[in-house]
Amino acid sequence: MPTQAGTTRAVWIETFGGAEVVQVATIPVPAPTDDEVVVRVAVASINPVDWKTAEGKYPPMGADKLPFVLGRDLAGTIETVGSENAEWAVGDRVCAFIGTDRGAQSERVVVKTSELAKVPDGVDTDVAGAVALAAMTAWQGLFDHGGLEAGQRVLIHGGAGGVGHLAVQFARWKGATVFTTASGRDLAFVRALGADTAIDYETERFEDIATDLDLVFDTQGGETQARSFPTLRKGGMLVSTLEPDAQKAAEFGVRTVPRWHADPDAGELAQALGLIADGQVRVEIARRFPLDDIREAQRFAREGHPRGKVILDLIQ
Ligand SMILES: NC(=O)c1ccc[n+]([C@@H]2O[C@H](COP(=O)([O-])OP(=O)(O)OC[C@H]3O[C@@H](n4cnc5c(N)ncnc54)[C@H](OP(=O)(O)O)[C@@H]3O)[C@@H](O)[C@H]2O)c1
Repeated sequence: MPTQAGTTRAVWIETFGGAEVVQVATIPVPAPTDDEVVVRVAVASINPVDWKTAEGKYPPMGADKLPFVLGRDLAGTIETVGSENAEWAVGDRVCAFIGTDRGAQSERVVVKTSELAKVPDGVDTDVAGAVALAAMTAWQGLFDHGGLEAGQRVLIHGGAGGVGHLAVQFARWKGATVFTTASGRDLAFVRALGADTAIDYETERFEDIATDLDLVFDTQGGETQARSFPTLRKGGMLVSTLEPDAQKAAEFGVRTVPRWHADPDAGELAQALGLIADGQVRVEIARRFPLDDIREAQRFAREGHPRGKVILDLIQ
């Protein structure tokens, strides 16, 4: 049963570790300040940053921040407003990618109005709850860091993943020629999303197929990233969601951007939601789990090869 206003059930960790440290706890909800609201969350999403954070491998969330609630993105309805204002009202259907000072996997979350976006009619709450962090990562990686323009050639690694399946569609919407890597079982899926060329990362060498690229959007790091540098034209750009190898980039005469983390940006989120509402971008939800099954949800997201996103149901 959901808790009463003023408290919340939430995904909670008190110490770093594996799945055993991830629990569901009942905790108080702070009162919102003037520029905040409390959202009654319907859906939050699961992202790789959740288990990296729980394992103590996400630097912005160090031991000094423990204990805390996991999760970075959500959708639901406004339950309380910090102050009366023209823009946000109780009952508004909203979604958000929130800062690292709070967690989203919770029935009730204090959200800054600068992080909020209204969910357009025609966009399902599940979709809105699935999409914010992954969409901002794809958007900021391709456009803000990568400067992708119409007519350019881009390779997106992991095109069936949470970030990748949105990146493929954003790049296509921009008018780029899109190459993407995915497993054999996801090739038809990524083609349906608009990829011009789908490459099986298990059986094909992407560097033999995707060449003379303007941009590589790397979601894998390691060997995949290393093999990506020669696919770029001189002066091309590699943007990674992980650690970029700047030395290797220099060796190949290509550009890269230093390690970055996607930031909440309500304006960009509203643009992405607009594309979803228009039917230009679709969000794939692989599976939903109830809050109490958070460990199983994380395990599935991590090891179950989901297509698209995994979401957590906070209403039940
Ligand atoms: N910097 C940031 O702000 C930021 C933000 C979001 C995410 N990230 C990072 O970006 C990465 C991707 O995130 P995500 O949410 O998209 O994860 P995800 O949903 O797990 O997707 C990863 C995708 O990569 C595919 N893949 C696995 N091995 C591959 C290979 N060798 N070549 C090409 N594709 C391969 C997987 O396919 P199969 O399942 O079929 O193997 C899966 O579809 C994670 O490491 C995450 O931590 C960083």
